[in-house]
Amino acid sequence: MKKKIGLGTWSWGNKLFWNYQTRNDNDLRETFDEALKRGFDLIDTADSYGTGNLNGRSESLLGEFLLDTSFSRKKSIQIATKLAPYPWRIGNKGFNKAFLKSLERLNNKLDIVQLHWSTAKYNPWQELQFLNNLCDLLDQGFNFQIGLSNIGPQRLQSLIQHLSKRNKKLKSVQIQFSLLAPDLLKQNQVKKICDENDIDFLAYSPLSFGILCIDPDKDENRESTILRNALFENYKKPTYELRRCLKRIANQRSVSQAQVAINWCCYQGTIPLVGMRKRSQILDISNVFKWNLNKIEFELLQKVSNRCLKRMPSNPFSSV
Ligand SMILES: NC(=O)c1ccc[n+]([C@@H]2O[C@H](COP(=O)([O-])OP(=O)(O)OC[C@H]3O[C@@H](n4cnc5c(N)ncnc54)[C@H](OP(=O)(O)O)[C@@H]3O)[C@@H](O)[C@H]2O)c1
Repeated sequence: MKKKIGLGTWSWGNKLFWNYQTRNDNDLRETFDEALKRGFDLIDTADSYGTGNLNGRSESLLGEFLLDTSFSRKKSIQIATKLAPYPWRIGNKGFNKAFLKSLERLNNKLDIVQLHWSTAKYNPWQELQFLNNLCDLLDQGFNFQIGLSNIGPQRLQSLIQHLSKRNKKLKSVQIQFSLLAPDLLKQNQVKKICDENDIDFLAYSPLSFGILCIDPDKDENRESTILRNALFENYKKPTYELRRCLKRIANQRSVSQAQVAINWCCYQGTIPLVGMRKRSQILDISNVFKWNLNKIEFELLQKVSNRCLKRMPSNPFSSV
């Protein structure tokens, strides 16, 4: 199977966690252009990305960059957005407005529409309404594929069945998946269901917000927010052994720690969505297309990852 890596754009417009600054938009344009040149053919965004009055910023920036992209290049990539199931977006038409807004911001390039998180904990019916809403839009002639996110194995099975009653199929499921992700047992059950049903499994936060890239031997300080710095401080010590292991493999291979962590995702047949905002990060991660982890390296990473008891926080809306 051909290796696939997606570009994640949560940080594009997010001040609170990622310290987004409009003055860096040119870096984002360069990131986008380089990604397309280097074979990243899936870009993930969401209608909720962008903090405060920057809401929708990630989609708007992509829309702007897409305007300057040739028709043939545009055809060769997929833009995936996620619609947020806010409690007020209810009923079989509850997502129409949001869908049309995303389509507008993205300048009519929208290939996959995903439910951002499961509503099982506060309004279990809303997921079905969302799916019915998307099926209706497809029946009306809009052209896109359907995806889910933050969904557990039980819920996933029942939603696959629900869609098949409408003669529709799921394209993708995106779940937090990295060497530090929580509930890896559950995530692997989701992966198995995806494999059985020919659904793409998208691994989000594959670098654990960048924690896996911190050099274990240096006291690196990234330009970041109070929130992200606090998180990094909290995780530095408990993840030391894992980062040492990543660095050892990286040095043996003459690659970066980030590449090793992303290849751990690819080894398992997932499609990592890597959050990137600099051209240099694209250049680095594009090297993952050129090499694979071997079995010994993978098993070593598994062992050290399992020993690391401090895991990333799980999404509170993730379902069973
Ligand atoms: N469905 C959901 O609920 C959900 C939740 C979270 C994320 N996602 C999706 O998944 C995407 C990725 O996840 P994420 O953004 O949370 O985090 P991530 O991919 O785990 O980490 C991203 C951070 O890692 C650092 N990084 C990236 N490439 C690097 C490289 N080559 N070398 C060193 N550092 C590197 C960058 O930090 P600096 O820029 O600071 O250097 C970057 O911002 C998101 O953008 C979004 O599309 C979905």
